[in-house]
This record gives sequence, structure tokens and C-alpha cells, in this order.
Amino acid sequence: MQNEPMSFGDDFLWGAATSSYQIEGGAYEDGKGLSVWDVMCERPDAILDGNSGAVACDHYHRYKEDVALMSQVGLKAYRFSISWPRVLPEGIGRINPKGLEFYDRLVDELMGRNIRPFVTLFHWDYPYALYQKGGWLNGDSSNWFAEYARVVVETLSDRVSDWMTINETQSFIGLGHQRGLHAPGLKLSHKEWLQVSHNVLLAHGKAVQVIRSHAKCPARIGYAPVGVVKVPVTDSPADIEAARATMFAITEKNCENNTWWMDPVFLGKYPEDGLAVFGKDVPQFTDEDMRTISQPLDDFCINIYNGREVRAGADGKAEKWPRPPGYWRTNFGWSVVPQSLYWGPKFFQERYKLPVLITENGMANVDWKSLDGQVHDPQRIDFLQRYLLELQRAVQDGVDVRGYFQWSFMDNFEWADGFTRRFGLTHVDFETQERTLKDSARWYAEVIRTNGRALHEAQGQSIE
Ligand code: FCB
Repeated sequence: MQNEPMSFGDDFLWGAATSSYQIEGGAYEDGKGLSVWDVMCERPDAILDGNSGAVACDHYHRYKEDVALMSQVGLKAYRFSISWPRVLPEGIGRINPKGLEFYDRLVDELMGRNIRPFVTLFHWDYPYALYQKGGWLNGDSSNWFAEYARVVVETLSDRVSDWMTINETQSFIGLGHQRGLHAPGLKLSHKEWLQVSHNVLLAHGKAVQVIRSHAKCPARIGYAPVGVVKVPVTDSPADIEAARATMFAITEKNCENNTWWMDPVFLGKYPEDGLAVFGKDVPQFTDEDMRTISQPLDDFCINIYNGREVRAGADGKAEKWPRPPGYWRTNFGWSVVPQSLYWGPKFFQERYKLPVLITENGMANVDWKSLDGQVHDPQRIDFLQRYLLELQRAVQDGVDVRGYFQWSFMDNFEWADGFTRRFGLTHVDFETQERTLKDSARWYAEVIRTNGRALHEAQGQSIE
């Protein structure tokens, strides 16, 4: 017992995550309005293999089966998102009762199995009707989001207490509004996408105000950007400082940074270096805007998949560590950097001073069903084990990490990559909709059951 490593808190939230467009299907059912993703998928060549999320995992019809599987894995929490156009087909105004009822039933199903629902209001499936009115560029867009938030909160907040406003601002603006790869497929100028970013930040703030004022049970609220994590290549103070400094710096005119998206929310101001880099393209904003954007939050929610190694160069300035050839990568080409789950939470907590929830982490793997009928994914087990051991190290070093949501509970529609990237703990046969728990799901069940102690065993051997 003496050598037992300190573990996660007793009420640590072991969870998994999904998002509406990636799993629900039912794209044209029960009065749902179109989202920009429904429309994007119609574009020739927009999606690998020409696929779409119109059916995806058919979760809209199979949610009971899916929640039963979650319960089998022992999930304590489940993060999912609401499809805005399913609830409000035109984005504002007329409510679609059948759409709302779906989430109502889903929440009941989860609660009935003791799984705590974490609701994300916006995970990218923006109402097409609002896009036709200018989308996030429209000066009213933050009020539209607040109206939508109110409808959801009024229906679900008697049971739901955990909310996230917006998923990965950087990604849907960068990929969808700057680079044209994701819906709505725009390639806006710097000036325009920076206006989009300001409107989205305002939307976040207004939604927080709505949740606080309308929630029927006490709310915990977060915002889930993606973490652009820098990892010191050694533990020397100079390398650590190089990583910290570059993690919170803006040097390029793109979306791939932390502070442009986080400082306004958590510190109430845009970062000075960002203002200088974006220069004349920075939108007009007022002190009142910044007060709206920086509503107090309860948790620092963050999606972390990888990181970049950094060191202090000979001149003392930070530089990228040159990676050796053959550096490990997942099936998505994303680098495998487990230390990102140590340094990410640590640096973010230092700067933003809130309890941390890892709201996404996982890997795309080449999974298929073996002749024995099982799905063996030792790579994913190893990946999750390495990352979670680093997260545990952060906990041991005093970082207040309250939960971890593996991405994803099931294989799903991976945006422009269609169905070619399997991220799930559960294998989905997209032809038959058959679900099969992968080996990693059974392994994760054991991690949950032992509250992390099983992390210290590799293929049946102790790794202490
Ligand atoms: C994140 C997204 C999520 C999924 C994973 C793989 O950036 O939030 O929807 O695509 O990556």
C-alpha cells in the first residue's frame, strides 16, 4: 500500500463524449431543420468517400441501446451536444417540440442509469437558415444563440446541471470559416473571421448569462476550446519556461493559439500580442462586450489530443524540438504526445485558475472486427494508458483535475474525413448499425471501476 500512487479523487468523473451531428443521424426527421453540415455534405468532394452524417450512428433511434452500453462500461458522465436546428428548425423563433423531446428522453435515460449528462450547446451543426442570414458574421448572431440557449435550458435544466457553451471555437472557425474545409466551407478574410470570433465569444457570454438566470438547478458552466499544448522537452527550468511562454503566445495570423480564445473569456481582455499581430483586422469592441464575454465560469473545460515539444534554444529563445524520423502518429496523422495531458492541465490551471475537465482526448485507430468477432485495439489501450498516467501525474502534482471524457464513446462521422477515422470505444458497423464494445472499452471499464488503479498494469503486468 505504501507505494500505491496517489490517484484520482473519489468523485472523479470518468466519462466519454460525442456530438450531435457526428452520431445522431435522423437528419431529415421529425421536423429538424437543416444544419450547415447537412448542406456541406451535399457538396461534391467536400467529404472523404462522399459520405454524410445523414444516418451516422443512427443514435437518434438507438439512444437507449447506446446508453445501455455506456452503463456497461460504467461511465459516470457522458458529454453530448444538442443539434440547434433540431430544436429550432430556423435557428430562432419556432420551436420543434419533437426535437426537444429527443434530448428530454436522452437525459432521462442517462439519469436512469446514473450517468451524469454534460450538455454542449454548440458542437458545430449551425442552423442553415441562420447561415443564410449571414451566420456568425451577423451582428445579431450572439442574440440568436442566447435565444436557443434559453429554450434548451428551460427544458433540460431541471435535471442537467453541467453545461458547455461552445466546442473548439478555434477549430470550427479555423477549419470552417478560414480554410473552407469544414462547414460552412468559407474562406473569409482575416478581418471577417476575426469578426466571427468576436461574435462567437459574445454568444458564449450571453449563453452563460442565460444559463445562470434560467437554470432550475445550480449550474456548472464551462466552455470547451481546444488546447494548443506545448511540452518542454526536458524538465529543465529553461525548457519549461520556453514551453509555457510559447503556449500563451500569438505569433501568427491564424486561429491556432490559446489566448485569443481564452483570455477574453477567463481574463476579460484580448491578449496584447494578438492585438498587435492581428492589427487593423481586429474588430471594434467595447468594454461592455468584454464584460459580457468574461462571465465567471466554474470549470476549465479543454480538449487535448497532442502537443508540441519545445526547448530553450542556445540563445535562450524558445524553439521547436526537432522530432526524430518515424515519430509516432495515429491513424489521423496526429502525433502521440502523452505529456500533453500533464503540461496542458498544469499550464492552463496556472494561468486561468479553475478546476480542469478534460472534455475530449482519444485517438483514431485502424480498427476492424477480427475473425473471433471481437475488436482488438491494443494501440488505443496503450495510447489512453500513456495519456491517463500523465494526467494522473498532474493530479499528483496538485493540478485540480475533476474529470476526463474519452473521445469518443463510439465510432462516428469524423467531419470532412467521413467514416475513415474510428475514434470509438465502441465499434460501429455503419451498414448494419451493429455495436461492438472494443477491447479498449473493457479496459476503460476496469480503469473506471478501480478509479485509475488499473492504469498501472500493462497487458497483465505491473508497470510500477
Ligand atoms: C475534435 C472535435 C470532435 C472530433 C475530434 C476527433 O477536434 O471536437 O468533434 O472531431 O476532434
